[in-house]
Amino acid sequence: MIVLGIETTCDETAAAVVERLDDGRGRILSNVVLSQIAEHAAFGGVVPEIAARAHVEVLDAVIANAMTQAGRDYDAIDGVAAAAGPGLIGGVIVGLTTAKAIAFVKNKPLLAVNHLEAHALTARLTDRVAFPYCLFLGSGGHTQIVAVRGVGNYVRLGTTQDDAIGEAFDKTAKLLGLGYPGGPQVEKEAARGNAMRFMLPRPMHGRKDADFSLSGLKTALRLEAEKIAPLTDQNVADLCAAFQQAIVDVVFDRLRAGLVLFRARFGIPTALVAAGGVVANQAVRKVLNRLAFEVGTTLVLPPPELCTDNGAMIAWTGCERLALGLTDPLNIAPRARWSLDEIAAAEGLRRRTAAYK
Ligand code: KG4
Ligand code: ZN
Repeated sequence: MIVLGIETTCDETAAAVVERLDDGRGRILSNVVLSQIAEHAAFGGVVPEIAARAHVEVLDAVIANAMTQAGRDYDAIDGVAAAAGPGLIGGVIVGLTTAKAIAFVKNKPLLAVNHLEAHALTARLTDRVAFPYCLFLGSGGHTQIVAVRGVGNYVRLGTTQDDAIGEAFDKTAKLLGLGYPGGPQVEKEAARGNAMRFMLPRPMHGRKDADFSLSGLKTALRLEAEKIAPLTDQNVADLCAAFQQAIVDVVFDRLRAGLVLFRARFGIPTALVAAGGVVANQAVRKVLNRLAFEVGTTLVLPPPELCTDNGAMIAWTGCERLALGLTDPLNIAPRARWSLDEIAAAEGLRRRTAAYK
């Protein structure tokens, strides 16, 4: 089974062709990602209108490139998948409409994929992880701990009450005058900083639930920065190091609580899986390793290029859904908001309705 996948929910225009073999293994035939960083850098963040226009301009070429690199033509494709949300609605419309056009003209099934579900299932593409597993998703828009029980079957165990974890990195970078996107810049600065110089809070530490709260951390950092302004290069590095260390401690504590909740409700997970842009961070990867070792679970970390937004994860989720016959009608609507819990509820309804028929 071969599926073309399209991703346009944020500032990456991406397309990929992925094959799912009969035994469930996945193979990436091509994976083209065009980042719009340069277009947004001057504004210190993603500008939705600029993103949507940029997607329109380059998506056709990105898709053509992905098809050429895969060495396949449309006749060889079994389905067309696109991220149908959640995300910046202008971009989502561009990607989904393009997928619909290809599906319609080439007479192929359409797969309207949830972007979060795609992050969640990436570990099955890279490592064939069996259900149920515990997912930590840390991206620019989302911070979630999720029990992944099957395709379309997700239970959220924890989430953030305010800022997303990647957003906290981005806001910290902006505050310290570093470029966009903030995560990689903060990581780079932190590498030459002293994490012990500033004592930042570890919000929600020790709580039994698995929720996050990150806006206080950002405020504490701002107050420390204001106290010592104007900032030298070393000040910036030390603040970044302190911030990253606080994030790392928070991830450890919150995820440990999430794993306790997971075991109580669903038994022992097959693995701890991490995804999302923040998981490209080496310090975060290290602490996930430490946690997995401590609680005695297998850790699955997709390579950094599959942790950040890409088309392969959309194509793969398309494969997983197509294998179960979960295709979508051409009039399906793009969605700015679309939680994983909602997919689970919709699939449950679909299954119950099918049983009733
Ligand atoms: O998953 P992603 O590519 O896009 C979505 O938000 O869906 O995640 C992007 C986020 C941004 O906030 C970015 O600053 C953060 O991931 N990020 C990082 C690193 N690389 C990307 N955060 C910390 N360290 C990094 N190396
Ligand atoms: Zn993402």
